[in-house]
Amino acid sequence: MKINPLTYAELSRPMYVLEEARLRKNLETIAHVAKEADVEIILAFKAYALWRTFPIFREYIKATTASSLFEARLGFEEFGAPTHTFSPGYTDYEIDDIARCSSHLVFNSITQYERYHVRAKMVNSKLSFGLRVNPEYSEVETLIYNPCAPGTRFGISSDKLPETLPEDVDGLHVHCHCESGSDVFERTLAHIEEKFANWFPQIKWINFGGGHLMTRKDYDVKLLIHLLKGFRKRYPWIKVILEPGSAFAWQTGPLVAQVVDIVEDNNIKTAILNVSFSCHMPDCLEMPYHPAVRNATLTDEDGTAKGETTYRLGANSCLSGDWMGSWTFDHALQVGENIIFEDMLHYTTVKTTMFNGISHPAIALLHTDNELEVLRNYTYEDYRDRMD
Ligand SMILES: Cc1ncc(COP(=O)(O)O)c(C=O)c1O
Repeated sequence: MKINPLTYAELSRPMYVLEEARLRKNLETIAHVAKEADVEIILAFKAYALWRTFPIFREYIKATTASSLFEARLGFEEFGAPTHTFSPGYTDYEIDDIARCSSHLVFNSITQYERYHVRAKMVNSKLSFGLRVNPEYSEVETLIYNPCAPGTRFGISSDKLPETLPEDVDGLHVHCHCESGSDVFERTLAHIEEKFANWFPQIKWINFGGGHLMTRKDYDVKLLIHLLKGFRKRYPWIKVILEPGSAFAWQTGPLVAQVVDIVEDNNIKTAILNVSFSCHMPDCLEMPYHPAVRNATLTDEDGTAKGETTYRLGANSCLSGDWMGSWTFDHALQVGENIIFEDMLHYTTVKTTMFNGISHPAIALLHTDNELEVLRNYTYEDYRDRMD
């Protein structure tokens, strides 16, 4: 089916639509940075794992990063390359399979390293080990996204890192960005070097984590390349890895929903939709943030604005708080018309739930010729088979 991506008027059911042209544009930017700066950039599955699109990714990148057994399997089995894996808590019942599916295994603590390094190497002798370190510096203001906040459970701080690293540790892993610019990386890098440069002669690689939003319009890509090149020049024996997630799928497509009803209470109008913030856009409630809605203006975050064409947007779940608003449109909303939530691919598509048994939006790929390929329709069985 051919689709007009300006209106998506051809759709009458909810759907996440990944636009291939926009995805390729991001992948080109990422591949450009990797080539110019002579670093490796890999995809973080936590942000994006639509595995049927991996053949497109493989045209631009060679590997992925996993934070769990299932992500490691997805990389190994579907992406076709062993993963760079980090988890704060490996377990006896998963470590063997994780080791089998990984090329790099990063430990969060010395105790995790001591518990599993011999066993992991027995399963996969090619594994390269790393330790996650805590630079004790992050500019991320939203606390739940700040991995360096006091009391953090992530990484080893410099005062606790042994002067001589264990013999089979090849790398260090640092993650302290979230949707950050390269200016943030510049300031953070200074802290990382200050804290950990003493260990650099002992390592072969360093992973600077995710959160480098190099595909955002105003991101200073040149500065990032300059910083990475400078690091490579100072420490030419260290291979540099970045593992963003959001940057790959940033602004690559919307969630298209439809208006099902209009209700009113206390002069507040709500447009009830066939999607849920809780189930299908969870970061809106979790982060929280208000999504951009195409051809509408966010008038009021607490949803009390009134006006002829102003609406709260309400979900089809029974959670009372499952609404956001208010948005003003240029016309009175009609049952059946599309509401287009922009930029709903990264994180959203991996975090959805089937709470309430609400029909899950389909997932589709809009090819560069505007032909829509539905990758996945969700069924009753998907809901039933998650439980027993
Ligand atoms: C260890 C690690 N690597 C990579 C990422 C991906 O970050 P982003 O999607 O913001 O680029 C995250 C996100 O939480 C992370 O925790």
